[in-house]
Amino acid sequence: MNVTRVCAVYWSATGNTEKIVRAMGEAAAKAIRCPLGELDFTIPAARETVTEFQAGDLVIIGSPTYAGKLPNKILPDFQTKLKGNGARAVAVVTYGNRSFDNSLAELVSVLKADGFLVAGGAAFACRHAFSDLLAPGRPDDTDLKAAETFILKAAARAEELPETSETLQVPGDAAAPYYVPKGTDGQPAKFLKAKPLTDMKKCTKCGYCVKLCPVGSIDPEDVTNVPGICIKCQACVRGCALGAKYFDDPAFLSHVKMLEQNFTEGKENSFYL
Ligand SMILES: Cc1cc2nc3c(=O)[nH]c(=O)nc-3n(C[C@H](O)[C@H](O)[C@H](O)COP(=O)(O)O)c2cc1C
Ligand code: SF4
Ligand code: SF4
Repeated sequence: MNVTRVCAVYWSATGNTEKIVRAMGEAAAKAIRCPLGELDFTIPAARETVTEFQAGDLVIIGSPTYAGKLPNKILPDFQTKLKGNGARAVAVVTYGNRSFDNSLAELVSVLKADGFLVAGGAAFACRHAFSDLLAPGRPDDTDLKAAETFILKAAARAEELPETSETLQVPGDAAAPYYVPKGTDGQPAKFLKAKPLTDMKKCTKCGYCVKLCPVGSIDPEDVTNVPGICIKCQACVRGCALGAKYFDDPAFLSHVKMLEQNFTEGKENSFYL
């Protein structure tokens, strides 16, 4: 199979996954000398329609790790809004320097069920959405270079992959339960219902956070109101240039502190062909 188009597809609330998948897409399209398509799967409108791929496409698909798996509220869209039709895929997960646990295994399994032939997989340690102390500044130039080197190998593998090939082997178990976040006391930190607050001394009501929220949960009429579910993605917190959004939930903050106490040592990226 000759690759005739490269597609970069990513769900990325705080930009890490986007950076890596786009770098991979650009490197592959340049090396193969074919067009590059892009699908930003982050905002709800982008996930309303089904995107069909075709044999001849090399699709690089990325997601962050949330609680050791794919973000659970986005999983149904990964399962139903991408149709592989025999296209080759490379599965990419990012994680915030704790562990990617089972997210890559889940992504590989979902892509296979979507009709992709999965030629490769990779997991990148990146700055944690919750704290700049975990993998600060990553992905950095070294990570992006490694991503580009890997995608060229994966593209070559994709071209030689037979239709009947076995599923790519990656660590983890797609059916495993979610990681349970812990607080500094080692006990489960229960912050499922936590929502961001808004500092009205800083907020100018520009409405940018409304557009950023990947689950459309911030009220456009009153940005302090979050009537919908909050997945704690931090898009609004990191995206507000004035630093007006923040979390004050004690269980959430205790989990962040626990991560900062235990997971600051830099992790290696992982690659599978
Ligand atoms: C709700 C939530 C849960 C997370 N769970 C994990 C996790 O289990 N393990 C980990 O190492 N990082 C975890 N992270 C960190 C993200 O995987 C990491 O910051 C990722 O690169 C964010 O990707 P993005 O910038 O593309 O949104 C979590 C982040 C969020 C927001
Ligand atoms: S992006 Fe920041 S300043 Fe703009 S409305 Fe949201 S919280 Fe307010
Ligand atoms: S309100 Fe919650 S889900 Fe929406 S952007 Fe902010 S942290 Fe993410």
